[in-house]
Amino acid sequence: MSRSEPDRAGGAARKGRVVRGAGGEREAAPDPVVSTVNLVKIYQNGGVPVPAVRGVDLRVEPGEFVAIMGPSGSGKSTLVHMLGGLDVRTSGEIWLDGRRADTLGESAWALLRRQKIGFVFQFFNLVANMTVADNVELPALLAGASPRVARERREHLLGALGLTDRAGAAPAQLAGGEQQRVALARALANRPSLLLADEPTGNLDSRNTRDVLRLLGEVHRDGQTIILVTHDARVASLADRVVSLLDGQIVDDGAVGAARRRPRGTAGDVVELRG
Ligand SMILES: Nc1ncnc2c1ncn2[C@@H]1O[C@H](COP(=O)(O)OP(=O)(O)OP(=O)(O)O)[C@@H](O)[C@H]1O
Ligand SMILES: [Mg+2]
Repeated sequence: MSRSEPDRAGGAARKGRVVRGAGGEREAAPDPVVSTVNLVKIYQNGGVPVPAVRGVDLRVEPGEFVAIMGPSGSGKSTLVHMLGGLDVRTSGEIWLDGRRADTLGESAWALLRRQKIGFVFQFFNLVANMTVADNVELPALLAGASPRVARERREHLLGALGLTDRAGAAPAQLAGGEQQRVALARALANRPSLLLADEPTGNLDSRNTRDVLRLLGEVHRDGQTIILVTHDARVASLADRVVSLLDGQIVDDGAVGAARRRPRGTAGDVVELRG
C-alpha cells in the first residue's frame, strides 16, 4: 500500500489494533512501538559495577523518528542494544508493540527481532559467505516475503544507497562505508516495525551520509518508526524528537524545533550538508 500524503505521524499510528480480550475482539488505540519503564543496565567490570543506563523511561509512538544523542559513554549503545534484545537489562521493563519483551529468552528475542526489528550496529554483521544482494534479501525471505518482493525491495534499497553495482560482491570486498550501507539496506528489507540504528553514518563521507539520510527520510515518510543513535547534529535534525542521554539518564527529550524542520514532501533535499 502506498501513501500519497507525506505523513509525519506514520500511517500505522492511525490504524488501530485488534485486541483479543475476554469480551472478544475490539479496536484499541495503537500501542507505542517502544516503551521502557525504569530501565537499568549495570555492567560488572571485574567486580566493579558500571552503571550504563540508570532508570530510562522512553516511549516511542508508531511512525516516530527519535534521535538519541549524548557524549561518549552516556549509555546510548547500551540502551538500543537492550531495546533489540542484544543486551540483558539489569532491572526495569521493555515493551515492544504492547508486549513485554524484557522477560523473553534468547530464542524468543531472535524471533521477535526477525519479525519486528531492523538493526544497524556500530559493527555490521553481514553474512560473510553471501553476496550483498543475498544479505539484503535474507531478512525479507526469512519473514516470508516472496522471492520477487524480496528482490524488488533489495533492488530499491541498494539503488537508493548507491550500491547497485556492488550487489554481487562479498562483504569482505566492500569498504567499511559500503558495508555500513548494506547493513542499513538489510535492516530495512523487512519493513520492520522498528528500525534501531547505532551511528549508521559513523563511517561515511558526506555524499554517502546524504544517501543514507535521504533513505531514512523516505522510509520515515512511509511510516517507519526509527530510533537512531548519532553524534551528528545533521542526522539528528532529520528526527521528530531528540532524546539526550547523560550518565545513563535522559536529561532532555524534545521535539525538533519547527523552525529547523524542512518542508514536508521534498524527497530530494533531505538536509543541507555542510563541511
Ligand atoms: N560490555 C561492557 N562491559 C562493561 N562496561 C561496559 C560494557 N559496554 C559498555 N560499558 C560501559 O557502559 C557505559 C555506557 O557505554 P555505551 O557503549 O552504552 O556508551 P555510548 O553512549 O554508546 O558511547 P559512544 O558514543 O562512545 O558509543 C560506559 O561507561 C561503558 O564503558
Ligand atoms: Mg555507542
